[in-house]
Amino acid sequence: MADTYDVVIIGGGPGGYNCAIRAGQLGLKTAIIEKRGTLGGTCLNVGCIPSKALLHASELFEAAQTNFADLGIKTGKVDLDLKQMMKQKDEAVKGLTQGVEFLMKKNKVDYIKGFGKIAGKGKVEVDGADGKSQTLEARNIVIATGSEPSTLPNIEIDEERIVTNTGAIALKDVPKKLILIGAGVIGLELGSVWSRLGAEVTVVEYLDRIMPGADNEVAKESQRIFKKQGLDFRLGQKVTGVEKLKSKLKLFMEPAKGGDEEVLEADAVIVAVGRRPYTEGLGLENVGGKTDKRGVIETQDHFKVADGVWAIGDCIAGPMLAHKAEDDGAAVAELIAGKAGHVDYDLVPSVVYTNPEIAWVGKTEEQLKEAGIEYKKGKFPFQANSRARTNHETLGFVKVLADAKTDRILGAHMVGVGVGEMIHEICVAMEFGAASEDVARTCHAHPTLSEAIRQAAMGVEGWTMQM
Ligand code: NAI
Repeated sequence: MADTYDVVIIGGGPGGYNCAIRAGQLGLKTAIIEKRGTLGGTCLNVGCIPSKALLHASELFEAAQTNFADLGIKTGKVDLDLKQMMKQKDEAVKGLTQGVEFLMKKNKVDYIKGFGKIAGKGKVEVDGADGKSQTLEARNIVIATGSEPSTLPNIEIDEERIVTNTGAIALKDVPKKLILIGAGVIGLELGSVWSRLGAEVTVVEYLDRIMPGADNEVAKESQRIFKKQGLDFRLGQKVTGVEKLKSKLKLFMEPAKGGDEEVLEADAVIVAVGRRPYTEGLGLENVGGKTDKRGVIETQDHFKVADGVWAIGDCIAGPMLAHKAEDDGAAVAELIAGKAGHVDYDLVPSVVYTNPEIAWVGKTEEQLKEAGIEYKKGKFPFQANSRARTNHETLGFVKVLADAKTDRILGAHMVGVGVGEMIHEICVAMEFGAASEDVARTCHAHPTLSEAIRQAAMGVEGWTMQM
């Protein structure tokens, strides 16, 4: 019989593979099971990475047609080579998934291709991709099976014309008319990509605002910017179905509050109405594991499902984000190794990779008001930041929220070019329990976009200097 593993991880996404690396570093005998054929999960294969490859390329495509001339750069006629754009995206994905496979070897983790199922305490059955089955013995099982796109009734996904994120990063042509169902993160990012490449984009959203979860002021400013960029928003609309005709699609919707049905035509529809945990066929019941009514695996003390069974990432509570799953994975490996392992879900940053980007961490103004916490606010527009002005990229602002009595930073919310990188200054500050004054009195290089954060932090005490 094969040796018993210290850790067997089911699922090779950011949660699973980071758990494997950390477990390997800590000297635990580890195996990771993945059914997809490549490691990296949704993030590397059909999510974060390929979408960012398309966001970056489509941004430059648009800039070459618009901003370059203002900077004194003549380009001549700019043409789209969609095949090459897709190829460079696929190459980015391939390089990174292979990189993860190398990291498994480097950390002495056994990578097993197949479908993993919990057969009972300490037992994981694998239906191998090679057709063979085996049962692994494990002191600890880590469930890292992630999530799958949610769907809506009367919509049949074909991943050709009616697509989720998977099909939306691989459309063969630019659709003339594209409808996005859901004004969340996927809707805004992929809507931006295809709009820049020439599609007429309509975003249909059930709520009367975009980006639920984001600070209201940020959501409003972002919507204003996206509207100017050409996205059409239909808020407060409930989609009731999509009908497939030979060459067109018909989308049926009605006001969420009730009212007459309306029909929109499109060449492609992207369904981006959230994700749900993926636990099908996992055998959770064989160890007494439970899910709530949304399918989220119930855990105690963060990650524990049952004795010797842990769960991390999108299939448990907390934000469904790759970096949260990564942190969960490392924390569980440390707990298994007898160390301390903890993730503060209040300090997980959110970034929407549109242009400009949107980023936030901590509490929104609405959350603070609802909790009855008194706060002070400092705000600084990029219009007044010298580097942003020099770059002709002045959209958006930085907002810092701090406790009215203690000055401790409670949240920060930003819209602007590069804020997806800048947010981490605030993450570090909050991790150390910083006051807004700590950031305000930290010397920031000039001229940088980050000075906008300092100026917003100064604004909390009312001494913003460059405005
Ligand atoms: P989401 O939860 O961000 O947004 C879904 C939107 O669909 C919501 O605004 C919701 O109100 C709306 N909606 C729900 N039912 C609807 C209906 N019947 N008709 C119209 N609108 C409806 O989910 P999304 O964009 O699908 O993303 C899935 C997950 O992937 C999220 O957890 C997201 O955070 C993550 N993700 C993160 C990215 C990032 O961090 N940059 C990029 C892409 C996805």
